[in-house]
Amino acid sequence: MVAHPRNAELRNRITIVRIVRLSLVVVGQEPEIRAYQVRMEMVEKKFVVTPWEVSGIVDYERLIREFGTQPISGGLAKRLESSLGDTAYLVRREIFFSHRDLNLVLDDYEKGKGFFLYTGRGPSGPMHIGHILQFYFTKWLQDKFHVNVYIQMTDDEKFLEEKRNLSYEETQKWAADNILEVAAVGFDPDKTFILQDTEFVGHAYPLILKIARRVNYSTAKSVFGFTGETNIGFSFYPAIQILPSLFEKKRCLIPSAIDQDPYWRIQRDIAESLGYHKAAAVHSKFMPPLTGMQDKMSSSKPETAIYLNDDEKTVRNKIYRHAFSGGQSSIEEHRKLGGNPDVDVPFQWLYMFFEPDDKRIEEIRAEYRSGRMLTGQMKDVLVEKVTGFLREHRERREKARDHVHLYKKDGALAREMWKHDFAKS
Ligand code: TRP
Repeated sequence: MVAHPRNAELRNRITIVRIVRLSLVVVGQEPEIRAYQVRMEMVEKKFVVTPWEVSGIVDYERLIREFGTQPISGGLAKRLESSLGDTAYLVRREIFFSHRDLNLVLDDYEKGKGFFLYTGRGPSGPMHIGHILQFYFTKWLQDKFHVNVYIQMTDDEKFLEEKRNLSYEETQKWAADNILEVAAVGFDPDKTFILQDTEFVGHAYPLILKIARRVNYSTAKSVFGFTGETNIGFSFYPAIQILPSLFEKKRCLIPSAIDQDPYWRIQRDIAESLGYHKAAAVHSKFMPPLTGMQDKMSSSKPETAIYLNDDEKTVRNKIYRHAFSGGQSSIEEHRKLGGNPDVDVPFQWLYMFFEPDDKRIEEIRAEYRSGRMLTGQMKDVLVEKVTGFLREHRERREKARDHVHLYKKDGALAREMWKHDFAKS
């Protein structure tokens, strides 16, 4: 048996247990029942966020405090929103809700120093709606700021992650598949480099070594929870995920879900000593699975997610059958009491990505809450939006087939990266 790091005690592992109602429970007479009830309480309030596991109902404010990041709010939020213009809704609605040094990135931009973007994907299976959000957001940033984007495809990471049990061939297949999905997003082919780790990291080995020599084992262990059973490839891997943040001497801004933040924490400890900037980051929340507000979408449970290659019929079926509704149990009740958009997954998906129009989303919220809009109608709206989005994404994906070589090898930025002498970094 090989234990996975997720089983270990992690410094960054956020396991929050509130036992506020403990005193109520103690009233029970049977000791066994008491214990059982206490456990139920604990399970209910617990959530976990690590690079390998997200479960429970995530308390994002708590995460900001525990990770030591900053909320994107006030003047800073306004600044980013005004740069993003029509695509600012993800910031306004706090889907991207937390950051490190975003203010410095915007300062650098205004002073003409510029910055660059870095994001990535672990190709462990087909990509779903939750995965693609960060790539669209990154593209919108590229469109507005005209900056370079580096996208890391971590086929090495997914091969090493033992619990996934992927063969090397499978990781290669998913890398090719996922690269096409990312290419469909429409990044600028001359300002975007997609690096597939197993192909590129050899070329960058000198810089990877410089990173690796600065991260000692006890830091890696406490940040990632490595144990004696962790394979040595996995304990080296953080050096690889840090690499792209040092591709330029400008400041690097990393859009990603908040579970990746532990890597950036290490990067920020070592970057300046290597002559680079500390990475800046903007962190997103997780889109809830179709089946309810807990946990995140899972590739191993197809009913929880909508994949980018699901056809229209599958999308309809998944939404009508599996989407968790905040509606009442009968139409009469619903008309009388109204629905609850806070737990209604179709509403949450519209809010988090699919309905950019603020006026429209607030109308939908109000209609639903008042009971005028029914659960089925809410689902109709989502089906319409998702199928429309996927149709366009699919068309772009077909066109993107001819662009993949530009992102990986032949575009202006890709050529520069393959020529770059990393021994001199
Ligand atoms: N580790 C990430 C994953 O499992 C992939 C990744 C690599 C990444 N570099 C990144 C994600 C930078 C966000 C930003 O999906």
